[in-house]
Amino acid sequence: MSANRPAAVVVLAAGEGTRMKSATPKVLHELCGRSLVGHVLAAAGELDPENLVVVVGHAREQVTAHLTEAGTGIRTGIRTAFQAQQNGTGHAVRMGLEELGGTVDGTVVVVCGDTPLLTGATLRTLAATHSGDGNAVTVLTAEVPDATGYGRIVRDEASGAVTAIVEHKDATEAQRAIREINSGVFAFDGQLLADALGKVRTDNSQGEEYLTDVLGILREAGHRVGACVAGDHREIAGINNRVQLAQARRILNDRLLTEAMLAGVSVIDPASTWVDVTVTFEQDSIVHPNTLLQGSTHLAEGAEVGPNSRLKDTWVGAGARVDNTVADGAVVGAQATVGPYAYLRPGTRLGVKSKIGTYVETKNTSIGDGTKVPHLSYVGDATIGEFTNIGAASVFVNYDGQDKHHTVVGSHCKTGSDNMFVAPVTVGDGAYTAAGSVITKDVPPGSLAVARGQQRNIEGWVARKRPGSASAKAAEAASREPGDES
Ligand code: UD1
Ligand code: CA
Repeated sequence: MSANRPAAVVVLAAGEGTRMKSATPKVLHELCGRSLVGHVLAAAGELDPENLVVVVGHAREQVTAHLTEAGTGIRTGIRTAFQAQQNGTGHAVRMGLEELGGTVDGTVVVVCGDTPLLTGATLRTLAATHSGDGNAVTVLTAEVPDATGYGRIVRDEASGAVTAIVEHKDATEAQRAIREINSGVFAFDGQLLADALGKVRTDNSQGEEYLTDVLGILREAGHRVGACVAGDHREIAGINNRVQLAQARRILNDRLLTEAMLAGVSVIDPASTWVDVTVTFEQDSIVHPNTLLQGSTHLAEGAEVGPNSRLKDTWVGAGARVDNTVADGAVVGAQATVGPYAYLRPGTRLGVKSKIGTYVETKNTSIGDGTKVPHLSYVGDATIGEFTNIGAASVFVNYDGQDKHHTVVGSHCKTGSDNMFVAPVTVGDGAYTAAGSVITKDVPPGSLAVARGQQRNIEGWVARKRPGSASAKAAEAASREPGDES
């Protein structure tokens, strides 16, 4: 157990986020595959707190339901506190502490649910500074190029000690020139925090209980107030609108791609490559431009994906090549090739060195090693063996309008072009099917199935029915003996 393990982390997530102009609560907006609050919880989880409380209010049910999913990695589990009315960040922390019995012995870390770029490392530095310096409160600050909207850190001119935090709306012209800002992240002594919150007033421009006022209150009571300056100001950016959301996404995406590239992944165009935090790579994998990798997608050693591809929850095996493809919940075997222009839907399993070619859609289908579906086909609810070739323009007819049925094609089969496999149906190992067949009955191993109308030629039809036409003249010329120029 870490010496700096906090007694509690309180995450503030009750606000509506009006500036997002959205039906979705702000903290549930997505960034690289995780909600804003999900990122904050991941960072907070790295502190391994004894308690983790999220203060919810606006869209309470929706946010609480989401927390159950988002907080699965947190050892102590997540508790929620309810703030019925958003009376300010100080009031929100008060609600959080009430959930913990009103007060807590030890360190309480407060984080806002809208600072998704904050890292666990920075939180650990804050906690270490707080206990190392023996502070009553330590605020995480940063120097930013544009401090508009943030609370300003006011320091004593002589000693440099933090004296107060003044909200932008309440700041004087001189205070607004300060570029050191409040990140909204604090470490507090739990008991002193609870006492001070009882003294916070609402005589400010927003009529709210400001958490930031706790600093002045503690300082006036003679307690130590400290600050910890974040190394990278971009980490503490609070998301209030969608412009900031897009900027944060760019920063986080760059962070993830930089990490991947340093680990041996070639990202041809980081500007047009977008990844989720949950995506993993092996060495020498390559990502071409205009590619989105989402969810639990994994690129094994030497796998190559893109350009123009979107892969979600998809495993790409070693040395496989996926080009201009959309895939969701698929497994691509080692050295398989997919695309260009393929659509792999959930339950697709492609064997080693298999091939899914151009304009092919697959769903709930297992394709054996070395098997190819090269062109213009739909393969749904099927099991295909090894080293089989499915002819161009084939459809696995899996739906009778009411139920889905399964098709089995064996190993070393050669099915003709333009086949329909009307499920449920089985084609045995080593069987062939003729082009244009509609396969409705099982095909025994090693046989050739021909399931199409017999061709009938009605000779002289054009001459009789379309006399004098260009077709009739062409037919007549073709029927003359060569050299017969009469
Ligand atoms: C707050 C800080 C400001 C700091 C900035 C950093 C205060 C008074 N101001 O301002 O000094 O620079 O964050 O991003 O603390 N919330 C609640 N209940 C409430 C009010 C807010 O849960 O009653 C939550 C919000 O959901 C949000 C967080 O607290 O996650 C911050 O609230 P927000 O309104 O965004 O505060 P800022 O104006 O950004
Ligand atoms: Ca904010």
